[in-house]
Amino acid sequence: HSNNTWSGRFSEPVSERVKRYTASIPFDWRLWPFDIQGSLAHAKMLHRAGILSADDLAAIERGMAEIRAEIEAGRFDWSLDLEDVHMNIERALTARIGDAGKRLHTGRSRNDQVATDVRLYLRDAIDQILALLKQSRSALLDLAEKHADTVMPGFTHLQVAMPVTFGHHMLAYFEMLSRDAERLADCRRRVNRLPLGAAALAGTTFPIDREFVAQELGFEAVCENSLDAVSDRDFAIEFLAAGALLMTHLSRFSEELVLWMTPRFGFIDLADRFCTGSSIMPQKKNPDVPELMRGKTGRMNGHLVALLTLMKGQPLAYNKDNQEDKEPLFDAVDTLIDTLALLAEMIPGIRVKPEAMRRAAAEGFATATDLADYLVKKGLPFREAHEAVARAVRAAEAKGCDLAELTLAELQGFSNLIADDVYTVLTLEGSLAARKHIGGTAPEQVRAALARARAKLA
Ligand code: ARG
Repeated sequence: HSNNTWSGRFSEPVSERVKRYTASIPFDWRLWPFDIQGSLAHAKMLHRAGILSADDLAAIERGMAEIRAEIEAGRFDWSLDLEDVHMNIERALTARIGDAGKRLHTGRSRNDQVATDVRLYLRDAIDQILALLKQSRSALLDLAEKHADTVMPGFTHLQVAMPVTFGHHMLAYFEMLSRDAERLADCRRRVNRLPLGAAALAGTTFPIDREFVAQELGFEAVCENSLDAVSDRDFAIEFLAAGALLMTHLSRFSEELVLWMTPRFGFIDLADRFCTGSSIMPQKKNPDVPELMRGKTGRMNGHLVALLTLMKGQPLAYNKDNQEDKEPLFDAVDTLIDTLALLAEMIPGIRVKPEAMRRAAAEGFATATDLADYLVKKGLPFREAHEAVARAVRAAEAKGCDLAELTLAELQGFSNLIADDVYTVLTLEGSLAARKHIGGTAPEQVRAALARARAKLA
């Protein structure tokens, strides 16, 4: 009956439905480069330990090179009967080199093999993601540099709060993405551990050298406990958590782009190549790319919850449940890579409209807090200053003008501490320049933050 590797114990083949239900080859085939890499390191170690002859090792290396070439050329025939990527490759090896191929699986199990493959895959994915993240962070810095002086309204509750510079606003996202990069780099350390040698769960009776395999594969260390090595997927969950946070940041950024691009705001325009039109409304230019970035965040959160849920009821050690880790993980990696690659292209395509930003900042009484601070510096307790300025805002609102458009006499009606030096405080530039401590929005501070950020990125 079935030609798989374990059917010797069985008296009938699995049903077609069971075969389709339990096979992972439709999605785990993409682990093949890591499966081959892991097998080669394992074989080399078996030879050094005197378990595998030099001829067998040479045959395995030759066979794997051929298989690699065949897969790369798209000529490899993945078989559902062989269940997963591990058995497909092993069977292809044995078909080529005979007994040496059958000896490869000495001292290991698919349980430690799949855990190794997934870790190698994820380490590689994290490196790609970090490189792309760096491009986006660098693009944010370029945009911030161009707009270190560009004034816009800063918001709380989506109501105009205080003036900030657009550069300062971009640097806020730089900080978020920098923490995301730190989280991923930290997670990578825990991904980068070798499970091989755990065999099915308890270790193996062969005199294996796990440190050697770890070194061969570039792992920082071996997993300390064989049961833990094959059964936990916390490294993948941790990656998804970091990925979900990263997408959450990109989602907030996307939401702002969408908002700023509406004519109601009109703060930015997005290059046409990142937008699409409507099949019915000829005037439309829709920000589909940021909308999708915002939308794909939901998919990431789903994958995180899927893996947490997958793990929570599993007794030690390996259970087939873990096969379900791959599709969410692969999709998360694909989503992050596609999103970040696009983001790095899109950021330079953001066209800023400084006049619209300035108009909005000038309209919302954004310098009211500056006036209160001014009164405090003249000796008024802050709570009284707050009260006086609030009355001034109401008066200006009734008159339909900005605070800076009230006459000195009108302003003095709210506090006799007000003198004609008040107008420098009420300007947008005065407000920005006054916030000149570290982390503040003063253009000089934005430039200093930029310099620190550039140094961090280099
Ligand atoms: N395809 C399996 C997975 O993804 C590989 C390990 C299977 N091991 C086993 N004993 N069934 O987890």
